[in-house]
Amino acid sequence: MSAQPCRFIALNSALEVLVYQTSKDASASAAARIASLIRSKPSATLGLATGSTPIAVYQELVRMHRLEGLSFSNITSYNLDEYYPISPLNDQSYRWFMHQNLFQHIDIPANQAHVLDGTVPAHAASEHADQFDRWIEQAGGLDLQLLGIGRNGHVGFNEPFEASLIDACDLPTRLIELHPVTIADAAPAFHGSQNVPTHALTVGTRQILKARQILILAFGKNKADAVAASLQGLAESEVPASLLQTVADRVVWFLDEDSAAGLKV
Ligand code: GLP
Repeated sequence: MSAQPCRFIALNSALEVLVYQTSKDASASAAARIASLIRSKPSATLGLATGSTPIAVYQELVRMHRLEGLSFSNITSYNLDEYYPISPLNDQSYRWFMHQNLFQHIDIPANQAHVLDGTVPAHAASEHADQFDRWIEQAGGLDLQLLGIGRNGHVGFNEPFEASLIDACDLPTRLIELHPVTIADAAPAFHGSQNVPTHALTVGTRQILKARQILILAFGKNKADAVAASLQGLAESEVPASLLQTVADRVVWFLDEDSAAGLKV
C-alpha cells in the first residue's frame, strides 16, 4: 500500500497538490495511480516522461509487473521528447533511457512503445512530429500523461518563450531549440555543454493538456522555484508548467517537502 501524503495543499478548489515526506513515497503513489488506470483500462494510452524524476515510478511499475501481474501488453505509450539529433544507441538518448528503465522489464510490445526518432533527417523532422501527433489523436488522445519539470519550468522540451496563452496551450509536436538552462542541466550527463544536442523533438502542449489525467512530479530543492511559479504564478508561456493551471481539474502534483518549500500556503 502506498504512503499517504503528509500534506494536501488546496491552492484552489480544482487543484490537487500532494506533498510527501520522501520522493520515494510520492513515486509509489504516482505509480499506484498509473497501475489503477491500467487495471481499469488495459488498453490505455500513456504519455511517458524521462529524466531522473520518474525513475522510481518506473521501478515501482516494474515491481508491480513482476510481483502483482500488472500487464502492459495492451498499453500504447508515447514518450514526451527526444534529443535531436541523437542515436538510440547513445546512452543519453531517451529511447535508451526508456529501454533501460522500463520497456525491457515489462511486457509492452516494442511496436506499441513510441519514442520520437532522434535520427530522422532534418528535412523530415516536421513530418515525423506531425505523424506523432496524428498517432496520438488516432489512439483517442492520452489517457494519462506523466510529467517532470525542468528548472526553468519546462515540460517535455516545451521551453519558456513569449506567446499568447491561447497559442502557448496549443503547440504541436515539433523540433525546438534547447534553452540555455536545459543545456546547462544536461551538460554533466553529456560530459560538457558542448556535447549536448542543441535541439530536441517534443510533444507539444496541445496533446499534453488534452490528456485525461496529468501526473506531474517534482522533487528536490532545485525545483522549488519552478514549482512555486507554476502553481502560484500566472499561467503563461514563460513558465510552461504553469499552463497546467488551465486544466487544473485533471492535474495532480506529486511533490516532496523540498520541492514544495517555495509554496505560500
Ligand atoms: C529534461 C526532460 C524533461 C524532464 C526534465 C527534468 O529536460 N526533457 O521531460 O522533466 O529534464 O529532469 P530531471 O527529472 O532529471 O530533473
